[in-house]
Amino acid sequence: MTVRHFLKDDDLSPAEQAEVLARAAAMKADPFGDTALAGPQVVAVLFDKPTLRTQASFTGAIAHLGGHPMIIDGNLAQVGVRESIADVARVLGRQSVAVVWRTFGQERIAEMAAHAGVPVVNALTDDYHPCQILADLLTISEHKGRLAGLTMAYLGDGANNMAHSYLVGGATAGLHVRVATPPTHQPKAEILSRATEIAASTGGSVMLTKDPYAAAYGADVVVTDTWVSMGMEAEKGERQGIGSPFEKFRVTPEVMGVADPAAIFLHCLPAYRGFEVSAEVIDGPQSVVWDEAENRLHAQKAVLSFLLQHASADAVTP
Ligand code: NVA
Repeated sequence: MTVRHFLKDDDLSPAEQAEVLARAAAMKADPFGDTALAGPQVVAVLFDKPTLRTQASFTGAIAHLGGHPMIIDGNLAQVGVRESIADVARVLGRQSVAVVWRTFGQERIAEMAAHAGVPVVNALTDDYHPCQILADLLTISEHKGRLAGLTMAYLGDGANNMAHSYLVGGATAGLHVRVATPPTHQPKAEILSRATEIAASTGGSVMLTKDPYAAAYGADVVVTDTWVSMGMEAEKGERQGIGSPFEKFRVTPEVMGVADPAAIFLHCLPAYRGFEVSAEVIDGPQSVVWDEAENRLHAQKAVLSFLLQHASADAVTP
């Protein structure tokens, strides 16, 4: 059986990403129409980092699909400390039909996927947050009526999971992705080059700049993220304090003023008003962050259903 995982944005091809987004939109319109987990079947959901939206939306998503979420606190499980990731994967793979994991290094979730024998979904790692990008793409398509050809500007920490997933997931959708970030916080070179390669095949593009206004100019979508990602708490002073390298990358009304007049603003949350975004922007009329937060539920239902369907289709097809 070929097991499909969703560990990073390009684990879905452009056509598959479009299929998942269409499925998410259909599920939003008909919340209980898909019973991929009816049985009920169990999905393991582990958190090595804090969570609000991800736990809420996966719990709801699994319940809507007719299944049961098995929420595991990473502090208790101590994956990779108390026992190896491979052994945890083998155990969870015998007790659940899919594993959803929020953790640190990308190599940890790759190791889980190598041994679980069931689909593994990345619920955020240091390098990627692909479920969030599916929710963002759903939100953008709802507000703009399309994805391919739109311009999305990301301002802030170019080296974090959101920047990476916007690059790869946005390029997959055919977006023109612009990242404005200080020279000290550039995206990983291999991720930037993968996004560029994907963009060449989808009609999108990738641009990296140190000028937030150049990124935002004429953009259809403006996005940002916290300057202090989970796991970086020790750097909070230098990232948010006086002299922060991100200071000029705040999304302000002035930045929104150079974007397309119909531009929308997204933020994965949690948001820190006065740091990465001005309150007037996130609480203003161009902000669609609450739609975006709701869409985590619909997007994750769709991706779980897609992965499980592929696993079972492969199981019955020799
Ligand atoms: N970059 C942020 C995203 C939070 C959803 C973090 O990793 O904390």
